[in-house]
Amino acid sequence: MSTNRDVMNREEIEARIEKTDITLPPPKTEPDRQYYFMKMLRTVVEEKKKELGRPLYANITTFGCQMNARDSEKIAGIMNIIGYEQTDSNEADFLLYNTCTVRENANLKVYGRLGQLKRQKEKNPEMVIALCGCMMQEPEVVEKIKKSYRNVDIIFGTHNIYKIAELLLSKLSDRPESKKMLVDVWEGTTEIVEELPNERKYSFKSGVNIMFGCNNFCSYCIVPYVRGRERSREPEDILAEIECMVRDGVVEVMLLGQNVNSYGKNLKKPVSFAELLECVEKVEGLSRIRFMTSHPKDLSDELIEVMGRSEKICRQLHLPLQSGSSRLLKTMNRHYTKEDYLLLVRKIRRAVPDISLTTDIIVGFPGETEEDFEETMDVVRQVEFDSAFTFIYSKRTGTPAAAMEEQVPEAVVKERFDRLLALVQEISARKTEKEVGKVHEVLVEEVNEQDSSLLTGRTSGNYIVHFAGEAKQIGTVVPVRLEESKGFYYMGVQLPSEV
Ligand code: SAH
Ligand code: SF4
Ligand code: F3S
Repeated sequence: MSTNRDVMNREEIEARIEKTDITLPPPKTEPDRQYYFMKMLRTVVEEKKKELGRPLYANITTFGCQMNARDSEKIAGIMNIIGYEQTDSNEADFLLYNTCTVRENANLKVYGRLGQLKRQKEKNPEMVIALCGCMMQEPEVVEKIKKSYRNVDIIFGTHNIYKIAELLLSKLSDRPESKKMLVDVWEGTTEIVEELPNERKYSFKSGVNIMFGCNNFCSYCIVPYVRGRERSREPEDILAEIECMVRDGVVEVMLLGQNVNSYGKNLKKPVSFAELLECVEKVEGLSRIRFMTSHPKDLSDELIEVMGRSEKICRQLHLPLQSGSSRLLKTMNRHYTKEDYLLLVRKIRRAVPDISLTTDIIVGFPGETEEDFEETMDVVRQVEFDSAFTFIYSKRTGTPAAAMEEQVPEAVVKERFDRLLALVQEISARKTEKEVGKVHEVLVEEVNEQDSSLLTGRTSGNYIVHFAGEAKQIGTVVPVRLEESKGFYYMGVQLPSEV
């Protein structure tokens, strides 16, 4: 399964813009419609730059997970084509927050930032402030922003990020007379728009969406409500994108989906995730494959087998546990028991003995007793995760768990959370210590921020390593001996590549 289609290289995009005729009415089909608005905006932006005698700057801030990070790269790609330069400064002409709402504190962060922006907008009244992402899919959030944050210009959701050019043009054509907030949030979509620009954060690695949305409805989780139903991309489109990235210098891809293990089920010609991985493995020039997230209920024997024999799939698996209590897993709607999870871990370790296992755990889910919590601690002790993301349960409006009685008192949750964190850290420290002295293949990612004589890279197991080297090695895989473990990262020594 291979294709020669070049989905996203710069020349192809320029050629597409070139042949777009903006004297005609806008096309009805995507992505042609967006190329039309990008071309129109180019003229608007050019004029604005001449008028101001300086470049126009876009600041895109991303909250939340890898899905949002990838969405932001797509928006950045479109903004670049239009003629904006990227900046980290708040003194931008276009400022976008791509938001997350998985836990309450994600929302609080965004409100805090919006408050601070008021002064920025007074300084530059023509600045466009836009909000998108998961939080915007909640009607009560949009209502609150309309009422209390009148300085916001554009709000859109998770389903129409590809429309940024169209939305921005419509807003800019309005300004500065109109102070009306432009709100375009869709409840859902079945459409996947391909062949638009994107701007990768790293030249040598990238996330690749293989599917969107989630059908699992874990009872605590808001994601299915804000990201819609599960939709898989066609394998040909995924492979074309990866092949194009590889030609452009990418050596590592991270295949992204809320539950990659159910990839392909809704395609006209169903394809399993394991089959997709085998195709990605064949892409020449690609060195590493990662993926996330894997729901334990759908992790097949076929996938374990493929992982066992693959040369390119990294020795790392993120397998969210959420809780070790079978009783709570049932009320969480997770469709596996403590025993199922432990058996799965045994199978994976048998096939891939050196695999690094990471997980997500929620503390204080409604009805969690001390016994339930001890079951979680027991799984953590038995599995010995390399690392675990631990979360305090956060009540999300509209989810079944929010209506459950027996919410656990805050002080009890805090005490359990601290105990879990201490255990997780003790195990991580013990495990990282064991690797000291061993040689790992490390993908060099950047020059160390604090000490420019050092490089920073990642092992196949996703551990961070700092070691001496030269900036020109960024994007290459080099052997490094781990010398000292610092808990979350290692100090290492680079070995000659022939060794
Ligand atoms: N699709 C992925 C991740 C979704 S969100 C998966 O299924 O694993 C990432 C993590 O946030 C989840 O794994 C869960 O541990 C945590 N999370 C989700 N909703 C939460 C909530 N209401 N309170 C606390 N943590 C939550
Ligand atoms: Fe949320 Fe569950 Fe879907 Fe993950 S699988 S996104 S936790 S509903
Ligand atoms: Fe957050 Fe949306 Fe991701 S809610 S975790 S950004 S899917």
